[in-house]
Amino acid sequence: MAEETYYDVVAYPPGSYRQSHPDRLATLATLLGMDVAPVGACRVLEVGCGDGSNLIPMAVGLPGSEFFGVDLAAAPIARGNAVIAAAGLGNVRLEALDLMAFPEDAGTFDYIVAHGFCSWVPDFVRKKLWEVIDRHLAPNGVAYASYNAYPAAHLRNAVRDMMTFHAAQLGTPSTERAAVGREFLGALGGVAKGPDVWKQVLAFESERLGKQRMDVISHDEMGAFYNSFRFAEIVAESGLQYVAESSLRRLLAPLDAELTKAVDGFGATDLIAREQYLDFLEFRSFRETVFCRKQVPLDRDGVRGRVRNLYLASPLENDGPGAGGATKFRDSQTGGVIQTNHPDVVRILKRLGACWPSAVAFADLPDAVEPICQLVAAGLVELRTHPLVPPRVLGRMPVASPLARVQLASGTRTTNLLHKMVELNTAEARNMVCLLDGRSSKGALETACAGIRGGVDGVLDALYRHGLLMG
Ligand SMILES: C[S@@+](CC[C@H](N)C(=O)[O-])C[C@H]1O[C@@H](n2cnc3c(N)ncnc32)[C@H](O)[C@@H]1O
Repeated sequence: MAEETYYDVVAYPPGSYRQSHPDRLATLATLLGMDVAPVGACRVLEVGCGDGSNLIPMAVGLPGSEFFGVDLAAAPIARGNAVIAAAGLGNVRLEALDLMAFPEDAGTFDYIVAHGFCSWVPDFVRKKLWEVIDRHLAPNGVAYASYNAYPAAHLRNAVRDMMTFHAAQLGTPSTERAAVGREFLGALGGVAKGPDVWKQVLAFESERLGKQRMDVISHDEMGAFYNSFRFAEIVAESGLQYVAESSLRRLLAPLDAELTKAVDGFGATDLIAREQYLDFLEFRSFRETVFCRKQVPLDRDGVRGRVRNLYLASPLENDGPGAGGATKFRDSQTGGVIQTNHPDVVRILKRLGACWPSAVAFADLPDAVEPICQLVAAGLVELRTHPLVPPRVLGRMPVASPLARVQLASGTRTTNLLHKMVELNTAEARNMVCLLDGRSSKGALETACAGIRGGVDGVLDALYRHGLLMG
């Protein structure tokens, strides 16, 4: 039985990270010319999986794949396993395990994910992560690791250093120690002397930490281990090949001309050095890096053309005619409005908006590579290797995500099939999700929706658009 850790004592808040989802990793790798395992039939390992709140929703949405999560802390693993049992999931397993003792016979994984791990473990554990990836990543596998990055991490380091000094008398990490540290930082900012830049740094960090929960500060800022890295240093240490950052926008948006000129001026010729200089220029604080094996050939020139191999999705809804013959589209999530006259874009967005949150294969849309890349770069269209949400079949009674049924039976938040956290604020909607188990009669659903505008169909439409229905 492993020793109790601070993650057993104070729960780390649940989180699901789209940027670490195998479909995102597969999409980026596909754009770079890799022939990856289909996410609907693959093996995924998550290292430092905590309570499984990142891994379990992946398993719900990809029932043909197999998921394995390990974490040193037994208490969050036990909570995660209770959710898995309650949701009746047979394709995901969590184990309380020190990565140092990772079983050599665990087999190969097509995707290996370590979110929020490298910066919060000792050096030897981080190095073990690279060994585990080296031994267990499939030849065409894709890995993901996030970490605190320089140069902005210098500010976080400075603040952590002062807060832990001030709270040293409180000993080991605790939420009380975090509260003392944060209060000290605020007080320091109020009376600090010296150059203005120092006061600005303190105000900047104080504001950032002011928005954080105390349990998060006690782990992320004032936990026992805290390391930051230069991007180039992590790539070299990993022994892996850099694929991209886990952002489609970043991959498809053309680099700002001024930044390109600056990086050229610094004499950076290879990709790693260029990315490193960009971190210096853009004051980066955190990286979410996607890797593959060194020997895998990547083609960075054909990225845009490979959108043809993917699915597209967009939450933009047709909002009627705009000015000068344009068509207006409203983002159903942010409320933002765009207008366009481009006939292919109008056709594509109308089609995608009508089936959101499901996706449409590029082959079924007008062949408009460049406009699509621009829409992705603007964050208006998503690319996927898998629809993630099955198309809605009208007239058939849908089933809600088993995870949503478990989580919404006692809370208001769950992770949807798009791997995003959603909040359902009305008891009626949550009750309806719980009833959508494939066994409830139409009458029970009608009773649950009595008095709600739109009735059963209206509620089902809303739940489908929230990404909570399995079709
Ligand atoms: C900052 S938390 C991140 C949790 C989760 N991945 C997230 O991002 O929400 C770091 C996690 O790494 C786990 N961890 C630390 N050392 C470990 C080790 N030697 N083996 C496995 N897990 C470890 C901790 O228990 C903790 O759950």
